[in-house]
Amino acid sequence: MRVSVFGLGYVGCVTAACLASEGHEVLGVEPMRSKADLIRAGRSPIVEPGLDDLLLAAREAGTLDATDDAAAAIAWSSLSIVCVGTPSRANGSLDLSHVLAVAAQIGVALRDKDDFHVVALRSTMLPGSVLDVVVPALEQASGKTAGTGFGVAFCPEFLRETTAIRDFYEPPYSVVGVVDPRTEAALRELLGFLAAPLHVVDVPTAEALKYACNAFHAVKVTFANEMARVFHSSGVDTRQVMDLFVQDTDLNISPRYLRPGFAFGGSCLPKDVRALTHHARSQDQDLPLLSSLLPSNATQVEQALLRVLATGARRVALLGLSFKPGTDDLRESPFVTLSELLIGKGVELTIYDPVVQPELLVGTNKTYVAERLPHLHRILRSSGPAALEGAELVVLGTHDATAVDAARASGLPVLDLTGRFSARDAVASGWEGLAW
Ligand SMILES: NC(=O)c1ccc[n+]([C@@H]2O[C@H](COP(=O)([O-])OP(=O)(O)OC[C@H]3O[C@@H](n4cnc5c(N)ncnc54)[C@H](O)[C@@H]3O)[C@@H](O)[C@H]2O)c1
Repeated sequence: MRVSVFGLGYVGCVTAACLASEGHEVLGVEPMRSKADLIRAGRSPIVEPGLDDLLLAAREAGTLDATDDAAAAIAWSSLSIVCVGTPSRANGSLDLSHVLAVAAQIGVALRDKDDFHVVALRSTMLPGSVLDVVVPALEQASGKTAGTGFGVAFCPEFLRETTAIRDFYEPPYSVVGVVDPRTEAALRELLGFLAAPLHVVDVPTAEALKYACNAFHAVKVTFANEMARVFHSSGVDTRQVMDLFVQDTDLNISPRYLRPGFAFGGSCLPKDVRALTHHARSQDQDLPLLSSLLPSNATQVEQALLRVLATGARRVALLGLSFKPGTDDLRESPFVTLSELLIGKGVELTIYDPVVQPELLVGTNKTYVAERLPHLHRILRSSGPAALEGAELVVLGTHDATAVDAARASGLPVLDLTGRFSARDAVASGWEGLAW
């Protein structure tokens, strides 16, 4: 394909060089003359292992060139990849001025172009940026409509500097956010040489994914550093702790605990986070990340309360009470807290949990719930349908089949706190979660 790459910085140079090495014809567009000159000389404007060789080979093969003429690049290519910077403004907000400048240049050039042209944005942008900000700019400058007059896509870039070329060729997957099938087909053709699977999603999902990845990487670094700070005073070398930590690929380095739903609870997580943060305080150690966990968790419970109250339902059925399905452990269950709060607000609550039987509760478990829900035996029902009788709203806190079937059969609105059921799942059509 003939591809124009706008912005020859870290991402643009690597993208241009790798695509040109794969037989695409690539024209880089860069306003800084010195960068374009270096590319034309087969040299890299950035320090990146292996990039000089790749650029030189592409120049010698005649598959790569660079220019500052945006209009000529649009006329010549069938697809453009936008890799300009999206820096922070002083207040932390995202500066889209470079992307908008490129959108205006591309848009004007598209006015005079009859062939369908695809604009694939690679610059990291918050969800909504492409469809709400960049597309209107392209449409205004071109006089055409996205999806029919030209194609638009968001393709997040996952490369890391210093290993950028390997990361480009061996991504975990490619993700393209598109609105029309012609654009999807063009991107499939462009990236066809990659062995990694290609996922097609809507544009905001693709935009959000990049932030989720980078935020998680930041959380990981901070987590490891906070662990080291808190354990240092106890003479622990946390490098060894983390070496073992990462070997648990079932619970630690795995998809577990990474699905949005409801708050955490149970007899261990809240207690242990509390102990760690208290220990840190006693050592005059600040752990901002760890210290944020319990307040964030409490916010999740509060959000659920507000969502239920906002529905106006006065009779609510809660399906699932223990901190996770399949256990009768009610200690620090966020569903117990939610029940307390709902009852406190005058909501008539009925509860069904396939495992919880008040007469079988013993020890600290019994004491915990007796203090918080002293009338549990009066509001607890022995089946899903019994709990749902007379209810106006279902709050689903378990994926147990008897509860899910009862919720579905009731036809009532469902607030799904499990996060298990997607909108595409027929079971969950119309069900809402706290944030979806
Ligand atoms: N650097 C990374 O490792 C990395 C990885 C993934 C994603 N990203 C994202 O990719 C984007 C680009 O990052 P980068 O580090 O390559 O940026 P960069 O600052 O190194 O490069 C941007 C280039 O765009 C050029 N430019 C500015 N206006 C232009 C215009 N109107 N037309 C053409 N070119 C123009 C600049 O001169 C510069 O050479 C950012 O949104 C960044 O968040 C970066």
